[in-house]
Amino acid sequence: MDESATIRIGSENYTFPLIKGTENETAVDLRTLRGTSSCITFDDGYGNTGSCESKITFINGEKGILRYRGYPIEQLAEKSTYLESAYLLLYGELPTASQLTGFQQKIAGHAGLRENMAKAFDSFAPEAHPMAVLSAMINNLGTYHPDKSTNDRKKDLETFDDTAALLISAIRTIAARDYRSRKGLVPVHPDSSKGYCTDFLQMTFGDPNDPQPPPQKVCDALNLVFLLHADHEQNCSTSTCRMVASGGANPFASISAAIGALWGPLHGGANMAVIKMLKEIHESGDDGSRFVEDARNGKKRLMGFGHRVYKNYDPRAKILNVACNDALEALGISSPILDIARHLEEVALSDDYFIERKLYPNVDFYSGILLEAIGFPLNMFTVIFAIGRLSGWLSHWKEIAESGSKIHRPRQVYQGATTRDYVPVEER
Ligand code: CMC
Repeated sequence: MDESATIRIGSENYTFPLIKGTENETAVDLRTLRGTSSCITFDDGYGNTGSCESKITFINGEKGILRYRGYPIEQLAEKSTYLESAYLLLYGELPTASQLTGFQQKIAGHAGLRENMAKAFDSFAPEAHPMAVLSAMINNLGTYHPDKSTNDRKKDLETFDDTAALLISAIRTIAARDYRSRKGLVPVHPDSSKGYCTDFLQMTFGDPNDPQPPPQKVCDALNLVFLLHADHEQNCSTSTCRMVASGGANPFASISAAIGALWGPLHGGANMAVIKMLKEIHESGDDGSRFVEDARNGKKRLMGFGHRVYKNYDPRAKILNVACNDALEALGISSPILDIARHLEEVALSDDYFIERKLYPNVDFYSGILLEAIGFPLNMFTVIFAIGRLSGWLSHWKEIAESGSKIHRPRQVYQGATTRDYVPVEER
């Protein structure tokens, strides 16, 4: 293939080099476009725009491939743990046994919250959404660690290993504490001798007077959910994290912003929307067929279906579909909404509307059913997504800080009023 691309604008030709990725993805390098032609590109939603070169995660949406640092998600889901995969994302390689132990110990040692900071939970409105609390509390956490949130990239990079361990650990404590405080329950303090998921489940649901470890199958299911959500290249929240980081903001501020982006129902909030939808279908006596009909007529959107990048089955949904079955069986729960989900999937996958648009189940289609079976309330589902995705956001913060990349500052095609003179208020 030619190593360059030529664009003709009016009567002029402009030639641009191509950039090749390690998986043979090709991009036209348009960095000189505006300087040479005065034109810019327009790509609403960025579906054709590479915002960076990254070494963290590879997705081939047409083939349904997802790899963290080259390792297929299927292998990691079967053989790795969330924390091991988080290390891989952050540092580029799988840890040795002693690196992994050191990483786990560092995380376990950072689980406590300063008492003053814990008081801040009382300052939120009783009905505050947990994602709003999480975003605010992550920024709040940074204020207790001024040495790690200097907004001086060099300094924030020097303390990054500690910051990453602190955030990966404390995000669980914040989520658990918020859950208990809105239920009027006394906090269950972290226990650094417990594993990452076990400690989180105990801090959330445990009885402080009679601490019983949650069933291993439940810990394993949560571990899998975190691992599968850990990174997904330049999605809406990760791009937000990178955008904020590009201006030099510290990891706490960048992650707080990413949590806000994840909250949206078209992004991480879809796992809540899926359960709401499945329950509505169940309560209306539909087996899913009517809903699919409404979706194909544009009256409804089938939440948990479709993806900007995957035009094939999302590999995470495949893994979660099986895990959902196993977890429900282990917990002895039968879920009518799981049956509806399965039926919806079957109907949608044989429907022309969905086939033509290449709409398949995405990660959120089955994750909500699993989280509900574990016992998380609906409004906490996206928080669980955020806990898993945090390791990805941190990896991207580090990548952008180390690359010294430019501030992200897109342009626009202005379509507003042209110049006009100010009119005093009494003359309007
Ligand atoms: N149900 C029914 N129709 C759909 C759906 C759906 N879930 N998703 C897309 N379509 C249709 C859409 O109406 C459009 O049809 P037409 O060409 O006739 O106008 C066509 O498919 C293309 O859709 P789009 O909205 O232009 O695609 P997009 O790439 O901008 O949106 C999406 C991707 C994920 C926002 C969208 O598929 C969606 O809203 N899905 C439901 C929400 C959801 O499950 N989100 C979680 C995404 S995975 C987790 C994450 O990464 O955050």
